[in-house]
Amino acid sequence: HHQRRFSLPWLAPFLLQKQDGEFKGKGKKSKEKREQLRMPSQSLFNKSVALLFSKRSTRTRVSAETSAVLLGGRALFLGREDIQLGVNESLRDSARVIGGMCQGIFARVGEHEEIEELAAHSPVPVLNALSSLWHPTQILADLLTLHDHAHLFNPTPPSSSSKPYVDLAPLPPLTIAWLGDSTNVLHDMLVTYPRLGHHLRVATPAKEAYQCPKPIRERVESLGLSIGEEEGKGPGHIVWTEDPRVAVKGADVVVTDTWISMGQEDEKAQRLCDFAGYQVTEALCKEGGAKENWAFMHCLPRKAEEVDDEVFYGPRSLVFPENDNRKWTIMALFDLLFGKWDLYPEMLAQ
Ligand code: CP
Ligand code: NVA
Repeated sequence: HHQRRFSLPWLAPFLLQKQDGEFKGKGKKSKEKREQLRMPSQSLFNKSVALLFSKRSTRTRVSAETSAVLLGGRALFLGREDIQLGVNESLRDSARVIGGMCQGIFARVGEHEEIEELAAHSPVPVLNALSSLWHPTQILADLLTLHDHAHLFNPTPPSSSSKPYVDLAPLPPLTIAWLGDSTNVLHDMLVTYPRLGHHLRVATPAKEAYQCPKPIRERVESLGLSIGEEEGKGPGHIVWTEDPRVAVKGADVVVTDTWISMGQEDEKAQRLCDFAGYQVTEALCKEGGAKENWAFMHCLPRKAEEVDDEVFYGPRSLVFPENDNRKWTIMALFDLLFGKWDLYPEMLAQ
């Protein structure tokens, strides 16, 4: 649980592909680099992935559709108006029917139970593209982005012999601060970063509605982690406060998300009131004592109320590399889970 280093060996071919994109047309050196590259796996050749999305999406959907093409297969976008799912047909029957025709299901749902129901009855793997409680593919992209930018956090630059993207540059233990709502994105951070040795500090308004939901807290505790206001403990303790200035103390990275997640639109006026003072700004981070070179991350889509333009479009912001990494990580997941899952039965059994 408390492994400090995180290795994603199966990401390598996709990261090489990414590197190829970045080196294109940049002279002799880039030509040499390109020669070392491989095509991504064609593990989805003649295969189809169903994208069952009952909520809007830009990044996750475009990543999924373009990844399926690069892996030699195709993705079928099945939105809420397109198919019988949950309206004229139960989730259970839909999972069996679609899973009988496709090699994988990537599903964005409302209540988290819906994805559990799909997974329980699908004959093929089901991957969570966002639910009320979790957003796992987002955190994989965020982690890759932190590794890509390890030079921001490491005092010594990597040696010239290191291969960026293939051997992910190691990260020192970071302090990562979250301001705003206890959203699906935060929940995956809670069960990921502390286990990799990073300190998490969270600020949400005091109201019960913005605290960590019970199933998430139970999952956090089952991993041997704790949540509370106490300071000075190890990374296994997540500091949770209502004061955004306290949360950013010593932060290397400051992260936020929308204050109004999909499905909460009716609560907009109340939420804007409740989250006043949680906007990520230079002034707030300075006052709270974030590190001088703190970096900013956001899953997007972004509204100006949670982070001002100065930070969002400024030099600290990693939001667009983070966005691009959604594609490389989703491609790796599709390859492994949908293209090759029959080769790794033990992984699916976990
Ligand atoms: N970050 C993210 O999941 O974006 P989309 O909702 O646009 O897919
Ligand atoms: N918390 C947001 C994330 C969007 C990617 C939502 O659920 O709408």
